[in-house]
Amino acid sequence: MKILVTGGTGYIGSHTVVELQNKGYEVIIVDDLSNSSIDVLDNITKITGKKPLFEQFDLTDREKTEAFFKKNNDLKGVIHFAASKAVGESVEFPLKYYRNNLLSLINILQAMNDTGISNIVFSSSCTVYGQPDNLPVKEDAPIQKAWSPYGNTKQISEEIINDISNVSGICSILLRYFNPIGAHESAVIGELPLGVPNSLMPYITQTAIGKRQFLRVWGNDYDTPDGTAIRDYLHVTDLARAHVTAVERMLNGRMKQKVEVFNLGTGNGFSVMQVIESFERTTGVKLNYKIMERRPGDIEKVWADTTFANQELGWKAEKGLDEMTASAWEWEKAIAGRRI
Ligand code: NAD
Ligand code: WQD
Repeated sequence: MKILVTGGTGYIGSHTVVELQNKGYEVIIVDDLSNSSIDVLDNITKITGKKPLFEQFDLTDREKTEAFFKKNNDLKGVIHFAASKAVGESVEFPLKYYRNNLLSLINILQAMNDTGISNIVFSSSCTVYGQPDNLPVKEDAPIQKAWSPYGNTKQISEEIINDISNVSGICSILLRYFNPIGAHESAVIGELPLGVPNSLMPYITQTAIGKRQFLRVWGNDYDTPDGTAIRDYLHVTDLARAHVTAVERMLNGRMKQKVEVFNLGTGNGFSVMQVIESFERTTGVKLNYKIMERRPGDIEKVWADTTFANQELGWKAEKGLDEMTASAWEWEKAIAGRRI
């Protein structure tokens, strides 16, 4: 059972490759290494004992993508992670985001259609909900106007997949991730942000290890119990497992619709302060932080209704916040000195 994992040397992709290999799948990764390192292949091999197949090219290149699919027409499915994901950068360089995220998806869908490969799992995001009116948010909540070009690429991608599924044999599972954090228990793979991180967890670990002076807590005047914003953080290993479950659902013919959508979170919301407290509790390290003004574009609170994923997909996040923050710290310590 050969599965293509695009973006498989990236953060979520690498963890998913490990889970797929552990379940006996043969994995081929396509990544242009624009936001990841070739070393990840060896690190995956250290965990699983098996080196994944790998091709380096840019999926926005239509000819290369088509040639790849023709050569690999024994693929049973595709998990499509490859995309640019920095929200702030997408505001500054919108065309980069529309070009990379949409063209790569279009090329893959075209090539799948041409070669008769029918199963794709797509990385979507809770960002499609914006600030929902009702919490926890269910999959049928209204999609709100995107707050960034990045978010818009996820909404448009979902629409493109729906449209092609209507008129082709392509089946798709759209996975809307909430906030993945943490790292593999081996501390051999994890998140490797380029430059200064925007996301909370790597900023916390980089502050704790001395790469950053202090964490800026963006706002403590939200309508939440401690005033800081609330998110649904989930362990990246739990998230990776969900992809294997989704692939199995497709391959075993258990899909009930040609396009299915699942929220992937724990169903629990935690505030920024609660994440800091968990980090300090599990690591014994005191974190330097300062309360700042709200970050423009941030929503106040969001967490998932995971009933559909739990019952229909048969997946449930298992790891709690303390395991997430502890594993992120183990990873940061493991890579200390490796980054600029
Ligand atoms: P990542 O940047 O670590 O991984 C993405 C990988 O795709 C990188 O290795 C990059 O080199 C590769 N890539 C990008 N453009 C490519 C192209 N045109 N051709 C070939 N390879 C290309 O990101 P991640 O955090 O692992 O995210 C994976 C997916 O999940 C993305 O689609 C992202 O939008 C989505 N997502 C991420 C989060 C999050 O918080 N990390 C949340 C929701 C959704
Ligand atoms: C989490 C919380 C910040 C950094 C982003 C994308 C979204 C989706 C998930 C991909 C917020 C606070 C953060 C810091 C802080 N990704 N924070 N100081 O904003 O929920 O969502 O990732 O699809 O599209 O926008 O994640 O980790 O940036 O922030 O106080 O230095 O931590 O204000 O409340 P976010 P995040």
